[in-house]
Amino acid sequence: MGLELDLELLEGFERQLDPRHPESGSIPASILGYGEITTVFEIGAQDKRRVAYKRLPVFRDLDELDRYLSSFDEYCRLLTNEVGLKLVPYGHANLTGKSGRPVLFLAQEKVEPLSFCHKAIHLLPREEVLRLVRAVLGELSRVWEFNRADGRVEIGLDGQISNWSIKGFNPSDTVLPERIELIYFDTSTPLFRVDGAEQLDPELFLRSAPSFLVWLIRLLFLEDVMTRYYDLKLVTIDLIANFYKEQLPERIGDLVELANDFFAGEAAELGVEPITVKEVRSYYREDALIWILYLSARKLDRFMRTRVLRGDYPYILPGKIKR
Ligand SMILES: Nc1ncnc2c1ncn2[C@@H]1O[C@H](COP(=O)(O)OP(=O)(O)O)[C@@H](O)[C@H]1O
Ligand SMILES: [Mg+2]
Repeated sequence: MGLELDLELLEGFERQLDPRHPESGSIPASILGYGEITTVFEIGAQDKRRVAYKRLPVFRDLDELDRYLSSFDEYCRLLTNEVGLKLVPYGHANLTGKSGRPVLFLAQEKVEPLSFCHKAIHLLPREEVLRLVRAVLGELSRVWEFNRADGRVEIGLDGQISNWSIKGFNPSDTVLPERIELIYFDTSTPLFRVDGAEQLDPELFLRSAPSFLVWLIRLLFLEDVMTRYYDLKLVTIDLIANFYKEQLPERIGDLVELANDFFAGEAAELGVEPITVKEVRSYYREDALIWILYLSARKLDRFMRTRVLRGDYPYILPGKIKR
């Protein structure tokens, strides 16, 4: 916690927001980054832009929002106090949207965009990229160490390269410090189990999905998406596959070797089976296809809801994502 939010600014922003053009309202916003599901942006006058916001308009009522917030707070507490990951100061605020439903804003201190690992890997030489990924694997192994040691609580984590930033990184750096300090950002999907029971309501995932796909996602993907973040081998494959997305396929071979070396050596007690390049490649193909289809379906849904049914569509969608 520790971040004070400007509720007046957020209320003004929400009132004038056109989710299709978030950047061109009377209170301008600019996009800091897109994830698969959400958009992160900054709001207001240039000199006030020290905060990164994520807007979640998925809740039906305040009870649902409160339940989400308790999982969110507990997740952040687990990651920092129990596991020892670093987060930036954060906070949240909610208000009533135009539709009458609650809208939650999650906020974090904004950091230098180029210090995010998916940016830094384009600026650093090969050796340093390998050291960086080794450091990410080190952070992941802390989470799974906790899971192994704690009999009751099991934490899921999305270890993607774009979810980490390098503390103190300067875009002109070509070497990283001796001890690389990483900060974790993607806390908005608080996946953890207590005595085997998932604490996040999976229905929230489905809220922003196109209504004509909900049944299909529930049937085919939900179980898979909810469980993959608990499996360290899959989380690592996903991390390495990000290098395809980032147009750095020449790193994949080295990274697979690095991960296998790491899991056979210093993290051997976690029992992660060796990974192959083939697994990473086929995972990437399938994953990229799923998200491209999913985004197209959301755009079709937005078209139907706004142009055909003349209703509103509350979600901010990314433009074209390069893969
Ligand atoms: N606090 C922040 N400061 C600056 N940029 C950020 C911040 N948080 C997120 N971003 C940008 O937005 C991207 C997506 O954020 P993330 O929390 O991973 O959301 P998602 O759930 O959509 O993946 C990040 O990869 C980064 O580029
Ligand atoms: Mg992310």
